[in-house]
Amino acid sequence: MKEKLEQIRAAAVAELSAPEADLEALRIRFLGKKGELTAVLRGMGQLTAEERPVIGALANEVREYIENAIAEKAEAQKSAALAKKLLDERLDVTMPGKVPEVGKRHPLAQVQKDMEDIFIGMGFSIVEGPEVEYDYYNFQALNIPENHPARDTQDTFYITENILLRSQTSPVQVRTMEKQRPPIRIISPGRVYRSDAVDASHSPLFHQLEGLVVDKGITMGDLKGTLETFAKTMFGEQTQIRFRPHHFPFTEPSAEVDVSCFVCGGKGCKLCKGEGWIEILGAGMVHPNVLRGCNIDPDEYSGFAFGMGVERITMIKYGIDDMRYLYENDVRFLDQF
Ligand code: DAH
Repeated sequence: MKEKLEQIRAAAVAELSAPEADLEALRIRFLGKKGELTAVLRGMGQLTAEERPVIGALANEVREYIENAIAEKAEAQKSAALAKKLLDERLDVTMPGKVPEVGKRHPLAQVQKDMEDIFIGMGFSIVEGPEVEYDYYNFQALNIPENHPARDTQDTFYITENILLRSQTSPVQVRTMEKQRPPIRIISPGRVYRSDAVDASHSPLFHQLEGLVVDKGITMGDLKGTLETFAKTMFGEQTQIRFRPHHFPFTEPSAEVDVSCFVCGGKGCKLCKGEGWIEILGAGMVHPNVLRGCNIDPDEYSGFAFGMGVERITMIKYGIDDMRYLYENDVRFLDQF
């Protein structure tokens, strides 16, 4: 029996030496009611009176020994688990951080904002108008009656016979003059639509920025000064502007306005296609018919207006030679601005 008890002790020691030993299973196996030690104690009845206390004492000692060994092992397993957890969850505060990607404005939105800021600096306020517009505001009130040839160059998308997607921001001029008495000094940026096929310089959706000033004694000199200030702020202090006679139904006189090429300074280069000048907008003195249609007396008031493409200004400013880049949302392109 003595040997049997020592065997049990040795077996327990061997089992407990495994790092992943299942302690509860071992406790049941060696110390449980149906365990190996209990089985030995049950056989004590057969021992002699002298042997019994000796074996009893040894059995108790082995029990205590195994109990202690299991408790020690439990401690060891606990601290090993903690050490592993600490290692796994270690945070190296000296590692370089992850820089979060910060978004930014689309180049068109940025240029539109720059344009707005320039005109706000000259005392203009921003007015918005509907993109779904009446034929009346988009054409008729702007002195473009039905069958006028100017409609050809601004063919657009019709919702009904007299409701369309606006082909220009100029209708906001009329909407503003109907609601507000002079002095008026507004700009109106926004989307416009034309039934054009997509190519390097056309898109069925693009953006314009309209300007309108109406007051007593407004002259073409005011228009020139305003556009010169805009051009110098947008393209650089040395920029010159040039007015070329043109025709728009809603202004008289009308002009197309060029800026001197800010790349070559007027000598001629790739950007200005050898011209030295780049066309940036249309402008003129508000036509008396347009004023009259809004109940503003052209003998008392005069005004100027201008309209330009946000895409065009963006492409000139950044030397972008294909408009489609602006709509493809390729971050490799957009990241450059
Ligand atoms: N609406 C014109 C266009 O889309 C641009 C324009 C020209 C606007 C002259 C104006 C202007 O206000 O006076 O082509």
